[in-house]
Amino acid sequence: MKSLARLIVSAIVLSTSTSFAAGGNAPAFHVNIDMDNRASLQRGATLFVNRCLSCHSAEFSRYNRVADDLGIPQAVMEENMIFTGRKFGQTMTVAMTTENATEWFGAPPPDLSVKARARGADWIYSFLKGYYVSEDSPRGVDNLMLPGTAMPHVLWDLQGYQALKAVDHQDEHADSGHAAAPASPFELVQEGKMAAVQYDRAMTDLVNYLVYMAEPAQLKRKSVGVGVLFFLAAFGVIAYFLKKEFWKDIH
Ligand code: HEC
Repeated sequence: MKSLARLIVSAIVLSTSTSFAAGGNAPAFHVNIDMDNRASLQRGATLFVNRCLSCHSAEFSRYNRVADDLGIPQAVMEENMIFTGRKFGQTMTVAMTTENATEWFGAPPPDLSVKARARGADWIYSFLKGYYVSEDSPRGVDNLMLPGTAMPHVLWDLQGYQALKAVDHQDEHADSGHAAAPASPFELVQEGKMAAVQYDRAMTDLVNYLVYMAEPAQLKRKSVGVGVLFFLAAFGVIAYFLKKEFWKDIH
């Protein structure tokens, strides 16, 4: 009953989320979401449980539903993806309490179940790519999307550290004849374990997963839709030949 009430409240918050999601900059990067890419969703799920679920919960998400939707065998999930002492059929919650988290980080890590819908995929992708070294920040890093954020640069080992590029206006003029993609505002100052393209791909997988998690039904809905189209196409052919058969004697 309590969770039903929570669900209703979050639905109301979601429906007005554009006004609630304030407090951040416009996305700096665009990400291509692909719900048909199961391998990407599986990699995203792995990253999520390994690197995000330690602080953030996903209270509306159940391990067994995720395993079922993404085609991950139960044993694989139980052995490699559940670290929180939870059971296969349970929701993805974390042991940390909100009070502890607020004390440690200065702000509570929000539940990420439906975050992708509230913020949008591009925003989260840009946020995960948006950390840069900053001497003005007490943590030594800041984030372009959410200045002064309480979330540490938790993926620094993968991405490395980047700095904000000084804007060079002469370069802009030199390039003005080309329709090149907008340049990144960052430059790498310390390499991580992943090359820039690899990190982008990993973040695409992760955001892909967060988008799926925000609305798991979209996977099923799509396959039902495809089935309906096949049925209509097949039925159309049958109807055509039936019609021919019926009218044969009349003409
Ligand atoms: C060490 C704890 C910690 C880890 C690990 C962590 N986060 Fe966070 N995260 C936070 C905190 C704290 C905030 C609140 C930041 C704020 O309000 O300034 C936050 C905020 C966020 C937000 C912004 C929410 C909003 O709309 O304001 C997103 C998105 C997010 N985290 C995604 C992730 C993802 C994806 C991962 C996994 C790669 C992750 N986080 C790992 C602590 C963490």
